[in-house]
Amino acid sequence: MKRGIFITVEGPEGAGKSTILGLLHEKLQQEGYSLLLTREPGGISISEQIREVVLNKDNTTMDERTEALLYAASRRQHLVEKVEPALSEGEIVLCDRFIDSSLAYQGHARGLGIDEVYRINKFAIDDTMPDLTLYFDIEPEEGLQRIHKNDDREVNRLDMENLSFHHKVREGYHLLVDRFPERIKVIDASDDISKVLDQTLKVVKHFIHKRNVL
Ligand code: TYD
Repeated sequence: MKRGIFITVEGPEGAGKSTILGLLHEKLQQEGYSLLLTREPGGISISEQIREVVLNKDNTTMDERTEALLYAASRRQHLVEKVEPALSEGEIVLCDRFIDSSLAYQGHARGLGIDEVYRINKFAIDDTMPDLTLYFDIEPEEGLQRIHKNDDREVNRLDMENLSFHHKVREGYHLLVDRFPERIKVIDASDDISKVLDQTLKVVKHFIHKRNVL
């Protein structure tokens, strides 16, 4: 069986990636693709339990390396238990956040260093990097404003960081875009939803088509 395609979606808070991911999933499903929609940190019981710890607002004393290791541990379990089996079955896996979140948030914004955080993640993921990553780009001010307007969204420990942290996160993502231009495609998330969805569909379909032709 031909291996599936691993697509990850990245971006700062309030970029709308989860909403767009849901719509993308729906569209591709209607077109007959076999898909798995999942998220990090979480997606399965053990990783959801780690998520509880890492995002708990009461854990104000959490050390930065502990934070990075918890995300990596959650990633490992989710990968072996859910992502890898689906890829082996030939499915398209759509994953809300993956390694680039750790590189941007813990590596760059927390200051642990992108290379250092990559190293612990390499232990967690072996060679399973995403085939395609969609990065939803938005000014932090605009993203945070969207979150505060959305009453349904729970505010987590990282949302509570100050604006300069969120600027650092964005800067981190931009460094990653420069470093992996082939894999990471930038989507302008400041547009309205239908336009962002159109851009996203275009990039994803182009990628799938290229994959199936080759
Ligand atoms: P979530 O509620 O899923 O937020 P979002 O809708 O923005 O994806 O919370 C995930 C939070 O965890 C988010 O603030 C980013 C952070 N995060 C990291 O810092 N490092 C990581 O490796 C991952 C996967 C997430």
